[in-house]
Amino acid sequence: MSQKSIQNELEYTKHVVSERLCYYEPPKNKLQKTFVEELSSSLNQKQKSIHPKFFYDKKGSELFEEICKLPEYYLTRTEINILTQLYEKLPPHLNGDFRLVELGSGSAKKTRIFISILERLQKHVEYFPIDVSNILKDSSKKLRDDYENLRVTGIIDSYESGLNFLKHYDHGNNLIIFLGSSFGNFSYENGLIFLQKINSSMKKSDLFLIGLDLVKDKTVLERAYNDSQDVTAKFNLNVLSRINSELDSDFNIRKFAHHAIYNENQNRVEIYLRSLENQTVNISKADMTLRIKQDELIHTENSCKFTIPKIKEMLSTTGFQIRDIWYDEKQHYCLVLFSKND
Ligand code: AVJ
Repeated sequence: MSQKSIQNELEYTKHVVSERLCYYEPPKNKLQKTFVEELSSSLNQKQKSIHPKFFYDKKGSELFEEICKLPEYYLTRTEINILTQLYEKLPPHLNGDFRLVELGSGSAKKTRIFISILERLQKHVEYFPIDVSNILKDSSKKLRDDYENLRVTGIIDSYESGLNFLKHYDHGNNLIIFLGSSFGNFSYENGLIFLQKINSSMKKSDLFLIGLDLVKDKTVLERAYNDSQDVTAKFNLNVLSRINSELDSDFNIRKFAHHAIYNENQNRVEIYLRSLENQTVNISKADMTLRIKQDELIHTENSCKFTIPKIKEMLSTTGFQIRDIWYDEKQHYCLVLFSKND
């Protein structure tokens, strides 16, 4: 299929930034529900909640980068540690040239490991970041400048739509990476739905690599989400500041506290904002007045932790076969490489 017809069919606009850098953008109206609509509906439920994707405005993204460096937050460090094993362990799985596809703009450090691995094996490397945020425009420029043989083609869309776009793009092999245990934000049911969608947009020759945090000692988990410098608390509370500035509301962040606990029955860390008193909050742009009781919890995030049998079960029920699993020494975290079933 020619590039032109794909663009027409899916209505993406191609922006050419330079010879080795371009990105596709969907029509503006494709951006489903707005911030206001989603928020007013989730805050109107009996269990009030704010979707974790709203954490990541500029300030929130900066705070998350800080979280990744915290001594208690073992996830990022451990994942990078396992990724360095891949210089040896990934090449045997790669038959022919692969394009690197990344879901979510992971920190450039992780992306670079994969580009380096592919550069050793093939003449040209194509990096295809998929992200709903514009962040990929900046990080892509840097990568293009640092690697002469790299071509960056990004798509600003949801993971599922981005992969669907790729399915019709060409016959090349894709190595799709989804790192940082971001998958842990899905509920069990939504995680399965996500995997099913991914499966139907993958080709037989494509490989998928996912980073997942594993079930472990409760104290280790709770410390990772209740750090001694209160960076995670700031990150959690920042979502209220974001709502204040974008939706003209009057949340007083001093009247809320960060609350993170490990739910052993569900194998997940649950994160909330706890109201320190009975209070009323006005959200102008959503045209709503919120009444919040003392000690009432607003749910902001679930961070699911996995066991190997559970991972195997999820992947086999969604039509995948596991190629390999890699761990750190303590088995705190794992990387799973899988492909579609024959
Ligand atoms: C980006 C979803 C993987 O769940 O550990 C970190 C987000 N929240 N500290 C995680 C997060 C609080 C993080 N993920």
